[in-house]
Amino acid sequence: MTSFLSRLSLVLAAMLLPVSMVFAAPSYNITFEKANNDIRDKESLQRGAVLFANYCMVCHSAQYMRYNRVARDLGWTDEEVVEKLAYNQRVTVDYMMTFMEDGVSQSKFGIQAPDLSLMARLKGNDYIYTFLRGYYLENEGEWEPAIWNNKVLTGTSMPNVLEGIQKHATPEEFDQVTRDLVNFLDYIAEPNKVERWDLGWKVILFLLVLLLLTYLLKREYWRDVKH
Ligand code: HEC
Repeated sequence: MTSFLSRLSLVLAAMLLPVSMVFAAPSYNITFEKANNDIRDKESLQRGAVLFANYCMVCHSAQYMRYNRVARDLGWTDEEVVEKLAYNQRVTVDYMMTFMEDGVSQSKFGIQAPDLSLMARLKGNDYIYTFLRGYYLENEGEWEPAIWNNKVLTGTSMPNVLEGIQKHATPEEFDQVTRDLVNFLDYIAEPNKVERWDLGWKVILFLLVLLLLTYLLKREYWRDVKH
């Protein structure tokens, strides 16, 4: 019995190890704002996709997403998706690659703008939400040119691309813009997530029923055995 228990605790420890590694990895000394996005909200995803195409794809790609997959998941036709997200410059089976030519990012910003396909999984929704909203002026109140910095990624080479929106929107509208963008990034980081969630509890339920049945079957088998 003890050996069984010690073996069990070993297995449990091994299972928990990756979890503790994930939680130990990032350490930031600011608290992130909560993105509170909802990947089941298709309208938010549609707005996020259009914003992403307009404000981010000049520099960033989503190299693992095809336009037609976005269309299927967000409820657009193949024609609509290339019209809305690529001004008919792309075809529907294309990957969502940046509109920037090779090498431009490197020479303009000193760094290649990272691919954003998996960014939400890498950094988390709250991180990206706070990052997009985290720009502040280094020279507040002085004359141009404005020098921006970011409280999440200090000294970042990404310009404050949402400045124009923020200037003209109400705080609530800006919340929505940034939340929609994060929502879209969350979706592209795992397009199957909703399906996985919906299937997951059914699988667990099935396994529980199966557990009950196999237990009853075991009792039936052992009924006549002397032990
Ligand atoms: C003008 C080019 C440009 C545009 C437009 C742009 N970015 Fe970036 N972005 C960059 C560069 C360059 C970096 C690398 C920054 C760095 O490492 O300092 C970056 C980095 C990032 C990162 C990673 C930050 C990190 O912690 O490593 C995220 C997330 C991001 N961008 C999101 C966005 C989103 C969302 C948009 C659209 C609203 C956008 N970017 C628009 C150039 C751009």
